[in-house]
Amino acid sequence: MKQRENFGSKLGIIMATAGSALGLGNIYRFPCEAGANGGGAFLIVYLVIALAIGTPLMISEFIIGRRSRSNPIGAFRILTRQGSAWPIVGYLGVGCAFLILAFYTTVAGWTLGYLGKSIAGHFNGQDLAQIQVQFSSFTSHPWWPLVCQLAFLALTAFVVARGVKNGIEKYSKILMPLLLVIMVVLCVKSLTLSGASEGLKFFFSPDFSKINGRVLISALGQSFFSLSIGMGALITYGSYISKQDNMTSSAIGVVLADTLVAVLAGVIIFPAAFSFGIQPEAGASLAFTTLPMVFQQMTGGYFFCLIFFLLLVIATLTSTISLLEVIVAALTEEMHLSRTKAAIVGALGTAVIGVLATLSFRTGSPLHIAGRSFFDLLDHITALYFMPLGGLFIVLFVGWRMKRADAMDELTNSGTLKAGIRKAIYFIIRYIAPLAIAVIFISQLVG
Ligand code: PFF
Repeated sequence: MKQRENFGSKLGIIMATAGSALGLGNIYRFPCEAGANGGGAFLIVYLVIALAIGTPLMISEFIIGRRSRSNPIGAFRILTRQGSAWPIVGYLGVGCAFLILAFYTTVAGWTLGYLGKSIAGHFNGQDLAQIQVQFSSFTSHPWWPLVCQLAFLALTAFVVARGVKNGIEKYSKILMPLLLVIMVVLCVKSLTLSGASEGLKFFFSPDFSKINGRVLISALGQSFFSLSIGMGALITYGSYISKQDNMTSSAIGVVLADTLVAVLAGVIIFPAAFSFGIQPEAGASLAFTTLPMVFQQMTGGYFFCLIFFLLLVIATLTSTISLLEVIVAALTEEMHLSRTKAAIVGALGTAVIGVLATLSFRTGSPLHIAGRSFFDLLDHITALYFMPLGGLFIVLFVGWRMKRADAMDELTNSGTLKAGIRKAIYFIIRYIAPLAIAVIFISQLVG
């Protein structure tokens, strides 16, 4: 049998996992969630949830992956007895990755299209209304968004087909530092705009009166999506982590980096919006309409607009790579396809569903189910059902189905790392995380 690949270094593990985590979730979802849910107060709640629940869940995925050295489906099969129902959790994860990739590549395609638009100078001299019209005509254009989506999928498949070390790890090691440099440049620009402090005040001033049950649910959902947990992406990446790696420190590093980037995104977006007198709105409109407008009113705007969309493309690409890798690992190991074939089959399969998500943005599109566009439906079912359920089963598996000794063996690298803090992590995995996820999941169902 062909030797299974591993990540080559600790840096590679962190860069690839951070690459999966950092994405649209940080750059445009987080600032909007924080802005709407109490600014600095949301940030504190988010940080607590990400560290207390997100980190143990991430470590649980690493444990399952590294112990089994397999894709999510094979992992649960290898770690249980024959005939066990646990592999269903693996199927759920691969299915979830597939559905997320389908709608994620819709927006990924937009980022590519908007990179092209900013290079071509399409926003020069345009006012907000004109830029808004550009956005709706782009997203409902008969073929542009589809071409961009398919091109993005092809780019993703190209990297994944090259393998774990020469593809995923290599590109993450180039793209992640580039992402950080672009973010810092944009932050400096944003902070030096006049009136920047108003934006910072809006983003950071904690309004604890806004914190309620619904906000806790948003923070949990945001942390799952942002950290790529609950659907097997990190089981897959965990299966490439070497036996010597300190997975606890890797996971904490990734969670902190992910939160830092989300905060930096807010520091870019809010001062820029406020200094031009714009009330920040939610989601796509901020990244694809407000910001291009703001950029072209500032000195050097052409350049800053261009690097902003380059930033979005990079962040999105390293996330789509991790999503496709879940499918490719499953196809190569469960169906014995070659990596290249698996990348092509995975990308083509995703394209079929993804195209429907993109087409659902057309005006008057019949692709609406139960009052939601097909795109929204995919987003909704993965964020509200697949990821929390997946996360719940993953912590239950490590906390209750695996032997304590085996889980601790992974956590301590066979006793070579101190057990102290790792015992606390195991306790959270066994008791606190399942309870917290279950309570939040059930309250969202009944609420
Ligand atoms: N974490 C990514 C983001 O914040 O945009 C989204 C994501 C990537 C979710 C990979 C799940 C995943 F497996």
